[in-house]
Amino acid sequence: MNPIVAPSLLASDFANLEREVTMINESEAEWIHIDIMDGVFVPNISMGLPVVEAIRRHARKTMDVHLMIIDPGRYIHAFRKAGADIISIHLEACPHLNRDIQEIKASGAKAGVAINPHTPVALLENCIADIDVVNLMSVNPGYGGQQFLDITYDKIRQTAELIKAKGSSALIEIDGGVTLDNARAILDAGAHVLVAGNTVFSDPNPKEVIRKLRNC
Ligand code: DX5
Ligand code: ZN
Repeated sequence: MNPIVAPSLLASDFANLEREVTMINESEAEWIHIDIMDGVFVPNISMGLPVVEAIRRHARKTMDVHLMIIDPGRYIHAFRKAGADIISIHLEACPHLNRDIQEIKASGAKAGVAINPHTPVALLENCIADIDVVNLMSVNPGYGGQQFLDITYDKIRQTAELIKAKGSSALIEIDGGVTLDNARAILDAGAHVLVAGNTVFSDPNPKEVIRKLRNC
């Protein structure tokens, strides 16, 4: 099975978002990854609801919204209304993770849970059966263009085992530092979705990079 490729708009040209989204529409990517940062959970601030709405007006792909914000439960319905198809929240940012997952599902979106590089996969044990996507952060969240952390390979294998043990149908998404050089190894470890920001957008031919990631 070919992986799902999710170009991360964080690395795109924000002054030309329509052009960037059109490129993704015309590519083999199935998802568009949209990083929301609040300057509290992560040091950086990226974009907010009006930008997600604007992207929605052009996007013909699944919008995968990654919330790197504290207590994201406050914004789930707003991001759904803005056009998110998948909403991922950070385990570390949710005092009531189970409630927030149910809230995402009630909104009609698919539910994702993201974990930071230092967070053990075992902490997903009690929610894995309820979620659609596990986002394993392979860099410390907050910035694009960082180097992939090799501890992720073990975490992918552990997540795949947990999914099997719990009868979950969650997809494993890898976010951060994905390149044409490590994509194959990431998939061999058991991942299904490759998020790629700089690898896609720093190349003069982003559609070709997406094609290569999908067929690596
Ligand atoms: C990092 C974000 C990632 C980021 C990935 O905090 O969650 O989605 O855009 O960018 P690259 O692929 O450049 O590491
Ligand atoms: Zn992300």
